[in-house]
Formats: sequence, structure tokens, C-alpha cells
Amino acid sequence: MRTIDVHGVFTEYDSPDELPGEDRELLAEARRSMSNAYAPYSGFQVGAAVRLANGAVVTGNNQENAAYPAGLCAERVAAFAASARHPGIAFTAVAVTARTDRFKVSKPVAPCGACRQVLAEYQHSAKSPIRVILSGETGKVLV
Ligand code: THU
Repeated sequence: MRTIDVHGVFTEYDSPDELPGEDRELLAEARRSMSNAYAPYSGFQVGAAVRLANGAVVTGNNQENAAYPAGLCAERVAAFAASARHPGIAFTAVAVTARTDRFKVSKPVAPCGACRQVLAEYQHSAKSPIRVILSGETGKVLV
């Protein structure tokens, strides 16, 4: 028998203004990308930006489809595009944010399980940790 302790550590910032410069810039890229989301079904627009070890930044946003499962989350659009354009280059950070006309997104949004799985595999294969920056439209930012 053995006990496995899995834990996580978050740093909470009161606003994006408090973030280290690189994180703030990546979040701004995610926000810009969010406005290009194709989300006519959910009305929930998500933006993501991946920073790579070679300095490149690749953005993505959610792309929906009437054939529901064919759509893809912003995080995977960004992660797959980053890997497609820069194969084998480690991701150093990913920023995620979201908005909707229906309410103010005042809490950080977190990637779904499938997106976490995808990010975890890139992290594992590159043997290099990915910094994850989570934000809503307003409110606190979690890193
Ligand atoms: N979505 C993302 O793009 N990322 C997330 O982290 C959560 C959900 C998208 C999928 C779908 O287009 C819409 O948001 C509503 O779930």
C-alpha cells in the first residue's frame, strides 16, 4: 500500500495589473483572441494564448459547430496550433479568459478535463512545466 499526495499551488492576483509583465501580456493576447471566437450556440467566448520556449505566442478561441462535438475549446485550438507550427518546442505558459453577453464573468475560468489532458501531455513530453494563467472578464486572476 502507498499513499499518493497530489496537490496544487495557486497564486491569486487581485487584478491583471498585479501580474508579472509576461503574464499580463499573454493574458492580453488571450483577450484579443477571445473576440474572434465562433460561439453562436453557447454565446460563451473563450480566448487562450500559449507562450513557447522559443518566444513565440500562439492564440486560439473556441470554435463551435452545429454538429456539437465537432467544436473545440479555445485552449485546444491554441495548443494544437502551437504544436502544429512549432513542433517539439515546450509551452512555457498558457493564459485563458472568457466573456458572455448573458452575465459578467467575474471569476477565473478553468480549462475542461480534455484540455487539461492535452496540456498535461505537452508538458510531460517537453519535460517542462506550463504556467497556467486563469482569468474572467473582471476579478481575480489565478496563476
Ligand atoms: N470552452 C472553452 O473554449 N474553454 C473552456 O475552458 C471551457 C469551455 C468553450 C466550449 C464551448 O464552445 C463554450 O465554451 C461553452 O462551453
